[in-house]
Order: sequence, then C-alpha cells, then structure tokens
Amino acid sequence: MKVLMTGGAGFIGSNTAAAVLDAGHDVIVLDNYCNSDPGVIERIEQVGGRPIVDIRCDVTDREEVRRVFREHKVDAVVHFAGLKAVGESVQQPVRYYRNNLDGILTMLEVMAEFGVKRFVFSSSATVYGGDNQVPFTEEMPLGECTNPYGWTKRMGEQILRDAAAADPELSVVLLRYFNPVGGHESGLLGEHPNGVPNNLMPYIVQVAQGKREKLSVFGDDYDTPDGTGVRDYIHVTDLAKGHVAALEYTLDHTGVEVVNLGTGHGVSVLELVQAFEKATGCTVPYEIAPRRAGDIAQCYAKVDKAQKVLNWRADKTVEEMCRDSWNGRNTKAGQ
Ligand code: NAD
Ligand code: UFG
Repeated sequence: MKVLMTGGAGFIGSNTAAAVLDAGHDVIVLDNYCNSDPGVIERIEQVGGRPIVDIRCDVTDREEVRRVFREHKVDAVVHFAGLKAVGESVQQPVRYYRNNLDGILTMLEVMAEFGVKRFVFSSSATVYGGDNQVPFTEEMPLGECTNPYGWTKRMGEQILRDAAAADPELSVVLLRYFNPVGGHESGLLGEHPNGVPNNLMPYIVQVAQGKREKLSVFGDDYDTPDGTGVRDYIHVTDLAKGHVAALEYTLDHTGVEVVNLGTGHGVSVLELVQAFEKATGCTVPYEIAPRRAGDIAQCYAKVDKAQKVLNWRADKTVEEMCRDSWNGRNTKAGQ
C-alpha cells in the first residue's frame, strides 16, 4: 500500500511512518511543520530503513493536496494533522476548528475526486467526556467535551461517519488514542512539545533534565487509589502498530469502525513518577498543586475490541514507556 500520512512528521506520525515502512508499505508524509521539524524525515528513513516521500504542504490547501494526489497513487490516508493543545484551543477556538475540521473536509473532498477509499483518523479518548464510567468502551454514548480541541475530534468523527454513510465504498477507522508516551527505542523519534509541556510525561522528562524545577501534581484528592489522576498511558510504538493493523483492516472493510487504542490499565500520576525514577535513575521533585480545570479522575480503555477486530494489543510496560521517553529527550533535528 502507498500510505499518505498527514501530520506524519509529528510525534505519533513519525513513529507510525517507521512502523508502516517496517510492515512493507510505502509512505508519503505531508506536513506543514507547524509543530514539528523537517529533520525528522531523515530519522524516519533511518529507522524505517527506506526512503519516504516528504511534502511540505498545509492539509487545508486544497489545490496543493490535489497536486499530491495527482502525482502519487495514494491507496490510503492516515490523518494525524491537527492542532492538539487543549489550553490553546480554549484561547483560539476558531483557529482550532478551522485547522482540524478543514483538514478532514479537504482530505475527504480530494479523496473522493481521486477515488481513494481508505481513511484512518486520529481521534481521542477525550470524546468520552467526563460522565462515563471507566473503562471506556466504544459503544458508550459520548459525553460533553470540555474544550474546543475535544469538540474538533468529536465533530471530526461525525463528519467521517456521515461521509461513510453516503459512500458505501468508504472504509473509515476512528482510532481513539488514550495517552501516548515514549518514543522509538533508538531514541530517534521522540516527543518535543513547543514551550511549556501540557502533558505529564514530557513535563516529567524536563524536570528530570533540570529544565524545570519541579512537577506540579494537579490534585491528590480524586477518588482514585492514591488520590491523583489515573490515565491509560500507551507506548507510541505500540500505538504505531495499531495504525498498521487499522490500515490493513481497511483492505476488506467498508463503513466505520471505532477502536480504542490503550493498554486497558490505569496508572496514577504518582505511580508514573515512581516508574520513571526507577526506569531512569533520575529524581523527579514534585509538589501537590490544585486540580487542573477540565481534568477527570480516571480515564482508561476497554481494549477487547482492538484485540478482536484488529488483532492488536499493546505490549510495552510502563517502565519501557519511561525509558524511551527519556532516551528520546535530545533528538530534535540537529542534535
Ligand atoms: P504533533 O503535533 O506532534 O503532530 C501533528 C502534526 O500535524 C505536526 O507535525 C504538525 O506540524 C502537523 N500539522 C498540524 N496542522 C497541519 C496542517 N494544517 N497541515 C499539515 N500539517 C499539519 O501531535 P501528535 O501527538 O503526533 O498527534 C497526532 C494526532 O493525534 C493529532 O491529530 C492529535 O490531535 C491526535 N491525538 C494526540 C494525542 C496525544 O496525546 N499526543 C492524544 C489523542 C489524539
Ligand atoms: N498532570 C499533572 N501535572 C502536569 C501535567 C499533568 O499532574 O504537569 C496530570 C493530569 O492532571 C492528569 C494526568 O497527569 O491527571 C495526565 O495529564 P495529561 O495532560 O498528560 O493528559 P490528559 O489525560 O489530561 O490529556 C491527554 C491529551 C489530550 C487528550 C486526552 C485524552 O493531552 O489531548 O489525553 O486522550 F484529549
């Protein structure tokens, strides 16, 4: 298969590109590098062992995207391209809706024009909202999202469902990621947020590096075993293999399939800090801080459907997630 990956230069996209190459498929990365660096392309090729096609392009630029489809025979699309900072989405909702929804609409229009029928979408566990009981299952009614970023995922899913209902040949897999962490075990494909990290693991890494003084643990009075928030952290290379399985699934499937990509295990903030210290030998000073607005106590997946439908499950341990997050800390382009 020749797979077009929008946002393929980002954290999850770059790891998935390497896994897709490893599975014997060809890769085209389309990215505008608004949250990534062109230097990653060389590292994807190094890890994947083969050259890829890389195109600097905005996924909302329909003429440019049409040109890509004219020049390359695309068999399937994995759509990672999107803005993902929850807090920023509250400050800049219109930019988030424009970028994240326009990207999907543009891809669907151009795919229809060129007869491309396979689409894998980066959705998020955030669509379950705060009112559902854990573990989250794909059949649950979806809750209210707490921010515009979450709504772009929820609306994106709806757009794709409607598109698939109207075109019986379309195959759409909506992958609901839980909390992706880690990096490629080579240390070459890691996570590098711009500015102050919002997410727990990159923040822990920066504290361990001495770039930040201490971690603020957002709340220790949740209804969880140690009072801190519980999440389903998943190693990004496991997540990447989930995309390979989803792509192969689209070969003899039509309609929409929703699949959770998580481990099925909840880990608290303090458990993650301890696992990180054990895996790396670093110390992570922390203080207990007030709860963060919009956070829920627990979020973890029921993963039976991924096993059944995609024949996929996550294998990597929390220690491996911590080790590989740490190993990837210095791999921005040029370093
Ligand atoms: P990332 O920011 O590292 O990667 C996204 C990539 O998309 C970047 O390389 C960016 O430059 C590119 N991009 C953004 N807008 C674009 C546009 N208009 N045209 C072309 N390229 C564009 O993020 P990630 O962590 O790799 O996430 C990938 C996808 O998975 C996103 O859609 C994100 O919302 C979703 N997701 C991420 C998480 C997470 O915790 N990382 C959780 C759930 C869902
Ligand atoms: N946390 C801290 N201190 C920090 C950062 C986070 O204590 O500095 C805590 C949070 O309160 C939460 C846990 O660590 O309990 C995980 O927080 P993250 O920000 O890493 O992840 P979230 O589960 O809040 O959100 C992530 C993505 C969202 C996505 C959601 C569900 O950031 O984009 O998972 O998939 F929508």
